[in-house]
Amino acid sequence: MKTIGIVGMGLLGRGIAACLLSRGMRVVGLDNNADARSLARREIARSIEELITRGGESPSLRDEWRSRYEEAASFEAFSKCDFVLESVIEDEATKRSVFAAIERVVDPTIPIATNTSALPINLLASELIHPERFVGMHWCPPCHITRFMEIIRGDKTNDTTADATMELAKLAGKDPALLNKDIEGFIVNRMHYAIYREAIFLLENGVGDVATIDRAFQHVIGLYATIAGPFRWMDLTGLPAYAAVMKRLFPKLSNATEVPATMKKLMAEGAKGASNGHGFYNYTPEEVARWQRLLEENVWRVRETLDELFPQQSS
Ligand SMILES: NC(=O)c1ccc[n+]([C@@H]2O[C@H](COP(=O)([O-])OP(=O)(O)OC[C@H]3O[C@@H](n4cnc5c(N)ncnc54)[C@H](O)[C@@H]3O)[C@@H](O)[C@H]2O)c1
Repeated sequence: MKTIGIVGMGLLGRGIAACLLSRGMRVVGLDNNADARSLARREIARSIEELITRGGESPSLRDEWRSRYEEAASFEAFSKCDFVLESVIEDEATKRSVFAAIERVVDPTIPIATNTSALPINLLASELIHPERFVGMHWCPPCHITRFMEIIRGDKTNDTTADATMELAKLAGKDPALLNKDIEGFIVNRMHYAIYREAIFLLENGVGDVATIDRAFQHVIGLYATIAGPFRWMDLTGLPAYAAVMKRLFPKLSNATEVPATMKKLMAEGAKGASNGHGFYNYTPEEVARWQRLLEENVWRVRETLDELFPQQSS
């Protein structure tokens, strides 16, 4: 696993490139937008600098990565890759055209992965010539720091492809979760969206305002989520109580299937969240910058905690 091709050098693609370059691999990156290509070079340099100053990587990496990074002029450049990852916009037709272009130039045994957030792997695989070498590889930004990775097998994904993807994930320093089957939303987005649905249900039912609901969440789930998932948390705090509460509470939880009225109202107002200062909260540019700093700092602290407590997971 020496040369990895990436199509789409946006937020995710450039972070993935920084991660792989920092782990000694060669990267061939393709983007059809010139601004995205130059931003990618700047951001890869910034991420590598961060990995040197904060992540313990060698200062020799500072300039050396450039000799292992190639900006591709066309899909032909992927013919020398051992693995190709698609990370273009979340649009089915765009992704399908990219897979077709990759399949035209790479050997049938080369794995092709998609970094889709939510499109089913079987759906994306349906028009491929070789669906057996197709797999989902879901990264989490900032990709040069986080350990997260979901690897999703489609019905036709073969063992060689799944094994190669697991190997790449480990070489990239990730702690991959291999899903045995394709399910819409995969693991993490399904769990996340269950939380978003219930949070909006509580808000719309007047139980608390957004700040109250957010704080309650932070102070409990934030207490354990870095070191334990829901199963470990239930074990640690005593299973019988959970069985009793499930019996009473499950029928009362939101099972809404529509986009909630609160979200529809925000969309009608043009709310985008922090990026335009208007979301569940309102933000000045200074507040946006402060939240971005807090988030980045916390990502590093979580990684440092994990490296200290569970070093074996990332090796
Ligand atoms: N943003 C997130 O938090 C996140 C998390 C996990 C996965 N994802 C998924 O990763 C993928 C990329 O997301 P992103 O946030 O990096 O998007 P982005 O918009 O930042 O980047 C997409 C890039 O793809 C390029 N592109 C579009 N069509 C192309 C084509 N035909 N050929 C070559 N390049 C093309 C664009 O120029 C752009 O630079 C999406 O599928 C997204 O759902 C995103």
